[in-house]
Amino acid sequence: MAGRKIAVVGLGGIGGVAAACLSLSPDNDVTVCARSRIDTLTFDNHEESISIPLKTLTDPSFAEPVDWVILSTKAQDVASAAPWLENVCTPQTTVAVLQNGIAHEERVAPHVKGATVLPAIVYYNGERLAPDHVRLRRIRGHDLLVPAAPEATAFASLFEGSPIDVGISAEFVTHQWRKLLVNVIANPITALTRQRLAVFQRPDIQDLSLGILREAVAVGRAEGAQLNDNEAETILETFLAYPAEAGTSMYFDCLAGRPLEIEALNGAVVAAGRRHGIATPLNEAMLALLTAVSDANAAAG
Ligand SMILES: NC(=O)c1ccc[n+]([C@@H]2O[C@H](COP(=O)([O-])OP(=O)(O)OC[C@H]3O[C@@H](n4cnc5c(N)ncnc54)[C@H](OP(=O)(O)O)[C@@H]3O)[C@@H](O)[C@H]2O)c1
Repeated sequence: MAGRKIAVVGLGGIGGVAAACLSLSPDNDVTVCARSRIDTLTFDNHEESISIPLKTLTDPSFAEPVDWVILSTKAQDVASAAPWLENVCTPQTTVAVLQNGIAHEERVAPHVKGATVLPAIVYYNGERLAPDHVRLRRIRGHDLLVPAAPEATAFASLFEGSPIDVGISAEFVTHQWRKLLVNVIANPITALTRQRLAVFQRPDIQDLSLGILREAVAVGRAEGAQLNDNEAETILETFLAYPAEAGTSMYFDCLAGRPLEIEALNGAVVAAGRRHGIATPLNEAMLALLTAVSDANAAAG
């Protein structure tokens, strides 16, 4: 009998890969909380493709308390996932938040009935090829990174024996900001221009990116991230080596007419900038433009 009860809330690219990897261990008892029922998930990893039986719930009222929650909706969907969180959480539960951005605890804590919130940086690429089919692409280094919190080692052990490598870092805030720096240029610019990463080959887009990055670096430093003087230039340089044909999740959400994760990305820079009295006009412009797009998408349903 599996000892660790785990609920995966949100079965997209990231949650699908997490659910598949967690299901590989006989010590894990995994329940998926989703909006449609999936009995078998096809999981692709490199050349291998395996079928994984899933226990899926589609009605939060049937959900029971668990030891661990993997929250893998987009940031803007946390409120709509609240009925799941309220039923699976107790003060003894740990909720690992596999989402982009910062301020995971602020976003999630109101819904988890005193459970511990563990933010996680996601480095792997999880693609939903179909509602019941996901693909893992490992980038390099750790696939997930969590802070050196008391729950970190137990969280890492959930994935033992799976393809997902979990790192633990005492410099979590710095890593979180480095990931956010890539996201505050990649997502809004591809979404607004409706072009993949090739758009960053343009000198005018590179200049705009550096401006957005320099604002975010100043805010990140004020938040305690150990960012270098040439951080903006280094991020852009590294980013330009990414495949030109790759898209971003905001680009795909924009094309599909879905709400966008802008508030958790450039919105987080703007909010933290206000707290520290640092002006962020370029991030504010990205936030205003993409909030308008997101709201129109949400209104169109
Ligand atoms: N994908 C990546 O490679 C990647 C990499 C790094 C970080 N991230 C971050 O990881 C997070 C998850 O991204 P993702 O790519 O996995 O997103 P995604 O593919 O859009 O999946 C999100 C899932 O959440 C589900 N969901 C939304 N509201 C829900 C609700 N109220 N109840 C139950 N399920 C709900 C959606 O269900 P429906 O299918 O019913 O809409 C969808 O299956 C985001 O913060 C993203 O920025 C993603």
